[in-house]
Amino acid sequence: SKLGCAEGGCGACTVMLSRLKGDQQVLHYSVNACLAPLCSLHLVAVTTVEGIGSVAQTLHPVQERIAKAHGSQCGFCTPGIVMSMYALLRNKATPTMDDLDDAFQGNLCRCTGYRPILEGYRTFTKVGTPRNTQETCRTHRKPEATPLFDAKDFVPFDPTQEVIFPPELMVKTDSLCFHGDRTVWLQPNSLEELLSLKWKHPEARVVVGNTEVDPNPNLNPFIHSLSLIRDRVTGAELRRAVDSLPLHQTQVFLAVLEQLRWFAGRQIRNVAAVGGNIMTASPISDLNPVFMAAGVKLTLMDKDGSRLVQMDSRFFTGYRRTALRPQEVLVSLEIPYSKKTQFMSAFKQSPRREDDISIVTAAMSVTFSPDTSLVEELKLSYGGMAPTTVLAERTAKELIGRPWGEELLQAACSSLAEEMTLDPSAPGGMVTYRRTLTLSLFYKFYLTVLLKLRDQVWVRSDCLSATQIYHQETPSSVQVYQEVPQGQHLDDVVGRPIMHLSALKQATGEAVYCDDIPLYENELYLALVTSTKAHAHILSIDTSLAVSMPGVVCCLFSEDVPGSNSTGPIVYDESVLADGQVTCVGHIIGAVVADTQSHAQRAAKAVKIQYEELPTVVTIQEAIAAQSFYEPIRTLQKGDLEAGFEQADHILEGDMHMGGQEHFYLETNVTLAVPKEDGEMELFVSTQSASKTQVLVLALGVASNRILVRVKRMGGGFGGKESRTTILSTVVAMAANKLKRPVRCMLDRDEDMLVTGGRHPFYAKYKVGFLDNGQVVALDVSYYSNTGNSMDLSLSVMERALFHMENSYSVANIRGRGFLCRTNLPSNTAFRGFGGPQGMIVAESWVTDVAQRLGRPAEEIRRLNLYKEGDRTPYNQVLDQFTLDRCWDECLRRSDYKQRRANSLSFRQNRWTKRGLAVVPTKFGISFTAVFLNQAGALVHIYTDGSVLVTHGGTEMGQGLHTKMVQVASRVLGVPISKIHISETSTNTVPNTSPTAASASSDLNGAAVHNACQVLVERLQPYRSANPKGCWEDWVSTAVVLLRVGRTPDLGYDFNSNCGRVFDYYSYGVACSEVEVDCLTGAHKNLRTTVVMDVGHSLNPAIDIGQVEGAFMQGLGLFTLEELHYSPKGVLLTRGPGSYKIPAFGDIPSHLTVSLLRDAPNAKAIFNSKVRTEPRPPPHMNSGSSVRNKTVQTSVEFCKKRQNIPVPPVLEFQLMSVCMVNLFT
Ligand SMILES: Cc1cc2nc3c(=O)[nH]c(=O)nc-3n(C[C@H](O)[C@H](O)[C@H](O)COP(=O)(O)OP(=O)(O)OC[C@H]3O[C@@H](n4cnc5c(N)ncnc54)[C@H](O)[C@@H]3O)c2cc1C
Ligand code: FES
Ligand code: FES
Repeated sequence: SKLGCAEGGCGACTVMLSRLKGDQQVLHYSVNACLAPLCSLHLVAVTTVEGIGSVAQTLHPVQERIAKAHGSQCGFCTPGIVMSMYALLRNKATPTMDDLDDAFQGNLCRCTGYRPILEGYRTFTKVGTPRNTQETCRTHRKPEATPLFDAKDFVPFDPTQEVIFPPELMVKTDSLCFHGDRTVWLQPNSLEELLSLKWKHPEARVVVGNTEVDPNPNLNPFIHSLSLIRDRVTGAELRRAVDSLPLHQTQVFLAVLEQLRWFAGRQIRNVAAVGGNIMTASPISDLNPVFMAAGVKLTLMDKDGSRLVQMDSRFFTGYRRTALRPQEVLVSLEIPYSKKTQFMSAFKQSPRREDDISIVTAAMSVTFSPDTSLVEELKLSYGGMAPTTVLAERTAKELIGRPWGEELLQAACSSLAEEMTLDPSAPGGMVTYRRTLTLSLFYKFYLTVLLKLRDQVWVRSDCLSATQIYHQETPSSVQVYQEVPQGQHLDDVVGRPIMHLSALKQATGEAVYCDDIPLYENELYLALVTSTKAHAHILSIDTSLAVSMPGVVCCLFSEDVPGSNSTGPIVYDESVLADGQVTCVGHIIGAVVADTQSHAQRAAKAVKIQYEELPTVVTIQEAIAAQSFYEPIRTLQKGDLEAGFEQADHILEGDMHMGGQEHFYLETNVTLAVPKEDGEMELFVSTQSASKTQVLVLALGVASNRILVRVKRMGGGFGGKESRTTILSTVVAMAANKLKRPVRCMLDRDEDMLVTGGRHPFYAKYKVGFLDNGQVVALDVSYYSNTGNSMDLSLSVMERALFHMENSYSVANIRGRGFLCRTNLPSNTAFRGFGGPQGMIVAESWVTDVAQRLGRPAEEIRRLNLYKEGDRTPYNQVLDQFTLDRCWDECLRRSDYKQRRANSLSFRQNRWTKRGLAVVPTKFGISFTAVFLNQAGALVHIYTDGSVLVTHGGTEMGQGLHTKMVQVASRVLGVPISKIHISETSTNTVPNTSPTAASASSDLNGAAVHNACQVLVERLQPYRSANPKGCWEDWVSTAVVLLRVGRTPDLGYDFNSNCGRVFDYYSYGVACSEVEVDCLTGAHKNLRTTVVMDVGHSLNPAIDIGQVEGAFMQGLGLFTLEELHYSPKGVLLTRGPGSYKIPAFGDIPSHLTVSLLRDAPNAKAIFNSKVRTEPRPPPHMNSGSSVRNKTVQTSVEFCKKRQNIPVPPVLEFQLMSVCMVNLFT
């Protein structure tokens, strides 16, 4: 299993536990290994992904199907997903699709877009074979594609063949006591024993599921009582009760079950206890509002006896405090049956529906006097509105005796507005939104009760949609691609959807990532010491306590850097270790090296640093006010701006903010440095940039020829491992060099998020001039990016934003300026799209403004202004091989745009639910804009046994680059892919490589592999001629070729003269999305997305479609879900999956079509392909994801506009807030 977050939020660590219940019954359940204390596993069988099958022996069907369905890209999430599925199958051999949804609620994947995983696992359900196959064939008379995989190839699943529960664990458990260095673990065997232990150790923490991670852990004893718990938050007992009792008695149970639907993920629910949720007393607990509204009674017990306590306003005595006494434990809760005249509802509003903490959670119960609609009892309970769960007692009292009708509603809203107040500085923010939610949730409750009370006639039909409970549709999908030409030899796999070559290993856990490399004998661990201040002088560093701690070997600070302390990917404006001053929170000041990870991390925390704080600049606005910019300020201009605005019939001005984005690669940054003889150093690094890593190790003062950087694979990169990896690898290498021992460090998720930066937040101000007919004639845009505390790659990111400022629209007179804001945040960096999405989203904003001003559909304005073949971009590049218009037409046709738009307009009659539809184009320039980077190399060995070893300059981070390179080599050499292998990327095989970035790697490295193989084919020709009847093995003799390929020689652009080619070619795409918005809560769902992408002749349609879908989800996250929060002092507050939400399984569109444009060969790249597979590839980000995301966002905004709601281009809950403020005030 893998470690992705260590806080139960990503599922990468999922394993299956099997435990004996009673004498015979064995329970199998998935859990997060990262939260399971080792001591709690006594007499428990732990099954990991490695335990159910292997490539070498037999694959388990669960492993085989995810791999062959293309559901594993970087593979770091795959073991966890495999184990969630495996645990499901151990309990239900033929699950439903709903079971799958439930099983994966606690698993995240940042690469695939989830669709292929579900398609692969759908084959275990009754539904069986993916719908895609049938739909593709049905919707098009002539099949346009064979399916991406054939389920008939799968080994049948036989549930009787699973391993049995180990008989040696079938013994009765006894009381246990484990003594550690620092704490004690006590495991009682009976309630009496538990009570007596708690009496003896009142300070001890009772642990059940251990899912309530203590932010301030102390060393008090732990008393583990999981085995004494009857029901966890799975709700199994309540479900049984609901099935057997009359409906009117089970209103409370149903409300609890509704909350449990969205309570954490399956792995958490499998271990977490209801009691744990109550006793944690979290103000945003999902269950406590229901229990309070239902009047649940708790039995609290100590050694001397028990007492019954009602869960009312006296039970929670303060933030995370209850009326429980130190010696007491909660032993049971009594959930009442509901009465005949009682109705109850529960609500949870969170940014992400699945596995997310609430913004506001609520439960409401009303009981009517018999045969009337007069309120006899009312309880309104809210979480997220105070330091504890609260009852709106005043409002409830005021409504007693009133009839359930309009007047009551008005009174309730006014009273709730007064009672449910929040201080503007309340923790959690979103104060207006949270307050309005209290009203809108009550309104939903009001309508729901009205509906039940009096029948539908009493509820206005246009309001009915407000009463609907969210139901997740089973997603469906279609993938369309062009088949290889008839007659293409079966061994020629170019253009075929072959599986990622590491997918099987990834699914069995055999794939080796950096941190899987076994420990070296004398290896040490390094922990970083980072700044807690955003801008400060370092006055003193006190390591006295740290060095006295167990296992500590040494501390490193700037004075220990043997070579240059200056570093940076382009401009050397950073320090390896802070020297006298820190410029962001997370700035690396030093490191502690110790014998183990925990020793190093504990000691790093014990380093005391004194600072003298200096003024900080955190936001773009603060930077603008302080004129805090890096040089140069870039300008890109074409035409006559003044004349353009004069010619315009209308001029509009606007501005737009776009937040940053965390890469959230599942594998955090990791480096293992192994010193060798003669000052040599071998570095195993999870990096997109092996050569940059090698060069920056100059901090050691050794030449590059002594540094070997090896990259086998990464667990995701997305641009985040292009340049920022070196801030860790350099320090680790330094430590290894100093101590002459291997040193390793894998960042914790919170550290990784803190120190490495992410996508640049942007702010843009624009002025657009246009004619009456909608044609845009002038545009002036100023972009400001939050660059952070160093330049890193920010200038190139800004340049790319400028190169995409017109997106796909022809604007004759245009000017774009780019300002890099110097702030006290960690340096922001490359991220899929590399500034392109930021540039393009602003274009979509002004296009929408123009359409709105003219009262015309936005797609008309988009189509009108769309480029045509032969047009020139603002940087004077002629658009040839232009396919955007074809993509546009196909997208409209496939999405049934006209009909859906008409439907969405008629949907308008719903007062509280709206639908919006948008279609958005993109074009994305392919090449590094830094010309010298457009090169690659390849080294191809043919061994005498006929096997081929290919090495090239690109790194594998899940995007399938190695797979594509093998496909290229296979075609050129004319040998099957089974004879070809790629082992790793390394600086001693292909030197001086460019980072794997800019979506150029399959072009560049593909060309290098092609050339190298071509040379070998030519060299082999005499042997072939001499022995025409021979085979490959007969012909080959040892052959070694290293070729450097200087690609795209005509590239080179100059900002001053606005001349020269920026890009080799463009990748085009169009997407259409339809979304539905709940105006009462702001929640939205993506009903349908259609994407048409021009990928030329795809080298591998499965990989390309996977990249499109993965990028789509990443962009969906960017524009609708993911949000980084900083304190005003520059402290990143969102440092893990608990607070930073990336899209989950439940966020995929209900229907997703991805079509790769047919008959669109690209003469400029390998085998007529177009790149599409890079990790942070602009193509998807741009044509793919950002198109789609822009589309989703545009659709959401379309809904808002129908409601005449002001449109801040922001995230979902801000939208909800705006909606509701409008509706209720
Ligand atoms: C990824 C993740 C997602 C989550 N999602 C949600 C969510 O959606 N909604 C939500 O409400 N919560 C959520 N939680 C919080 C947590 O899972 C729940 O509060 C859970 O019910 C706690 O149960 P537990 O058995 O794990 O408690 P533990 O962690 O074992 O204990 C929690 C606290 O309760 C005390 N305690 C436990 N049992 C007793 C007892 N019988 N008597 C006295 N004290 C006791 C413990 O001493 C401890 O202080 C989430 C947590 C994680 C990690
Ligand atoms: S590592 Fe355990 S859930 Fe993320
Ligand atoms: S394949 Fe899922 S995170 Fe990479």
